[in-house]
Amino acid sequence: MIIKEFSADGFKNLKNIDLSPAPGVNVIIGENAQGKTNLLEAIWILSGAKSFRGTKEKEMISFDGEYARLGALFEDSQRVQRIEAVISKNPRERRLSVNGVKQRYFSGLFGLLKCVVFTPEDLNLTKGPPEARRSFIDLCISQIKPAYSKTVLKYENVLLQRNTLLKNLALRQGTEADLDIWDEQMARLGAYISVIKYQYTKKLSLYAGRLYSELTSGKEDLKLEYRSSIYEDMSNFTDQWAELTKIYLDSLIASRGEDIAAGFTTAGVHRDDVSVYVKGISVKDYGSQGQNRSAALSMKLAQAYILCEETAEMPVILLDDVLSELDRSRREFIISKLKDMQIFITCCEPVARLKGKRYEMSGGRVLNKQR
Ligand SMILES: Nc1ncnc2c1ncn2[C@@H]1O[C@H](COP(=O)(O)OP(=O)(O)O)[C@@H](O)[C@H]1O
Ligand SMILES: [Mg+2]
Repeated sequence: MIIKEFSADGFKNLKNIDLSPAPGVNVIIGENAQGKTNLLEAIWILSGAKSFRGTKEKEMISFDGEYARLGALFEDSQRVQRIEAVISKNPRERRLSVNGVKQRYFSGLFGLLKCVVFTPEDLNLTKGPPEARRSFIDLCISQIKPAYSKTVLKYENVLLQRNTLLKNLALRQGTEADLDIWDEQMARLGAYISVIKYQYTKKLSLYAGRLYSELTSGKEDLKLEYRSSIYEDMSNFTDQWAELTKIYLDSLIASRGEDIAAGFTTAGVHRDDVSVYVKGISVKDYGSQGQNRSAALSMKLAQAYILCEETAEMPVILLDDVLSELDRSRREFIISKLKDMQIFITCCEPVARLKGKRYEMSGGRVLNKQR
């Protein structure tokens, strides 16, 4: 997958950006606060995913403007496509199109322009809170199966309703039987999500494990395990839906008392986690900073490799300020592993030995473009 043209104007501080990126490495150099991350974020938004820095749509528009305009012409193994977007402070004036065909929401762009982004926060993936790992796995799966994100939204909606009811029950409003309808939906959606996440984690473990071994020259090994808050062991019956749904439902019913007391749903996919082991030991609890970083990098690289394998398209890689955070061997490893993909790299200083097209960014503009 290659972005051949990219334009942005009025997206945060970006002004009149109009690039013809190289098919290989593109390096964006500039001082702090010049708009380098904004540029990667603008590309990322066209992939249809939520902002990787949590920016809401309104915040994407320049402080002193009314609109943000984005456009990309990109080529995958099948065809050349064009995405155009106009974001307005008035959501009714939002204009999105793919090859000239109107789309209502950014999520409608999902699955077209495939990107994988690496940010400095990602280096904290194994060390950080379970929430980060949950949303990482959700994103990885959504990129492969865009419909999965809709199931997750439905689950979140049911969870919200169930939690509201639990709070009411604590105040003696309603009866426990009112939970039936939510528990039943939650079990169905939750069982499905658990299985998909379990299966993805298995694959991620395989890929990230290989990468980690290579990164440590075979000295250490990495394994991931999906930790369900409902199922003890999923390895034996991942396709037995009736059985899985029943166990989920029984577990929800069994924890009703506890849930009412807590005021929220104490078990379910929203509480699951992924455990990461290096040499059989939890890297979060006992690993060094270096081991945690290597584990996180291996997981992110594995995301790109699995996406590539499952969709038969190489994603565009966005590396935001990650290289400066890494030592030379990890830096060279990551670049060598991504060498066949189109990459956009931001950094404050020119990284020696990094060949590619160079852009200088200042005040939201891309200055002299040179090869
Ligand atoms: N909505 C906005 N309108 C205009 N400027 C913005 C907006 N949101 C953020 N910025 C500006 O973008 C700059 C940060 O850009 P960023 O891409 O994070 O810089 P860096 O080059 O360090 O990656 C800040 O100066 C900030 O004020
Ligand atoms: Mg930045």
